[in-house]
Amino acid sequence: MSKSITGNSTSDRRSFLDAVSKMGVLAILPAPDMAGTVLSAEETEGNYFVAGPYLQNIGTSEVTIIWITHKNSFSWVEYGAGTYTHKREFGYHNGLIEANNRIHKITLTDLTPGTSYKYRIVSTEVLGYRGSIAEFGETITGSMLGFKTPATTNEEFKMVVFNDIHDRPQIIPQLLYRHGYTGNVRDFDLVAFNGDCFDWVTEEAQIIDHLIKPCTDIFASEFPFMLIQGNHECRGSFSRQIPAYFAYPDNKYYFSFRRGPVHFIVLDSGEDKMDNNVEYKGLSAFDRYRETQKKWLEKEVSSDAFKKAPFRVVLIHISPWHSGDWHGTMHCRAVFGPILNAANIDLQLSGHTHRYATHEPDSTHNFPIMIGGGPLEGNRTLIKLHATDKELNVKMIRDDGVLVGKLNIPKK
Ligand SMILES: [Fe+2]
Repeated sequence: MSKSITGNSTSDRRSFLDAVSKMGVLAILPAPDMAGTVLSAEETEGNYFVAGPYLQNIGTSEVTIIWITHKNSFSWVEYGAGTYTHKREFGYHNGLIEANNRIHKITLTDLTPGTSYKYRIVSTEVLGYRGSIAEFGETITGSMLGFKTPATTNEEFKMVVFNDIHDRPQIIPQLLYRHGYTGNVRDFDLVAFNGDCFDWVTEEAQIIDHLIKPCTDIFASEFPFMLIQGNHECRGSFSRQIPAYFAYPDNKYYFSFRRGPVHFIVLDSGEDKMDNNVEYKGLSAFDRYRETQKKWLEKEVSSDAFKKAPFRVVLIHISPWHSGDWHGTMHCRAVFGPILNAANIDLQLSGHTHRYATHEPDSTHNFPIMIGGGPLEGNRTLIKLHATDKELNVKMIRDDGVLVGKLNIPKK
């Protein structure tokens, strides 16, 4: 945010301007308005895109495009298949078209599977309301971008998984540029952040600077990413605002989705300590939340979509096994463990421990578990998943390039 530069009185203003004029910086100061009042920098500053656009929650027939403007705006997406952008889409809520807001979350629907689209974002500033009538300001337009909807077939699918970045955004370009490409070829259709992107969340700028911007700078305007809640996303004064910046199926942190031959299940392991822990000040209800997810998971694993998929992969921040014996781990094991063990799971990917490891099936879990490393240099990992309809190929690569985990899972 720009700082206000405002004088208190005419003489104050004159002496202030005289002083800065001598310093040679008059040209960068805001001009006085017609009434002679010096406008603050913020008042004279136009609207601009603070972050985005970035893609979320892409499916065969829909995608959500999110961006943030500096000023309250009325926004839309212009898009179309091929090179034309003859369609427009807005955000809708209870019969109103979204406007007079800064976080723009617009879902394009009825898209054709396996099709390339062009799009660009547009925002018109809302200056305010005269009574009930909105007054519009300047319109700003983003550059032309593109995305491709996934096909409904079992086409090959590639995903990279980060975990436990803990407010070190430089990890995103570091691991992605070093290990996320083969030559110039991108090794991902989707980027997953498997929890603990932050230590605790206190403001919008942290979410933008530590996650949204590094992703958008590299890929996220044209390829989607997904934030899976870890225990650290549950912490801090801004934690309850995080969902406003992302899109999830049914607006929940636990969900399933299909990409290529893989049916994914995302579970929210919640906090790691008891709900009555003094640190949470009585504001946590994760036992109840995990019980709710258990009921959803029971239904999910009995669905045809789940059972008939060539592969079934679980993403969960705290692994119910091999993650210590704190309450979060043990409760996840109690509520999710028996269902997962009976569900013919092919793979589980997790984080949280900050110790990378690959755990083959054993007497407690009948599927392999890969846990990514921590946030410190030498312990960071990128998990790369490559799925074809015959095989699930998983590699865990340490930041120095050493392959520290590998699984080849043939279709059962
Ligand atoms: Fe964690």
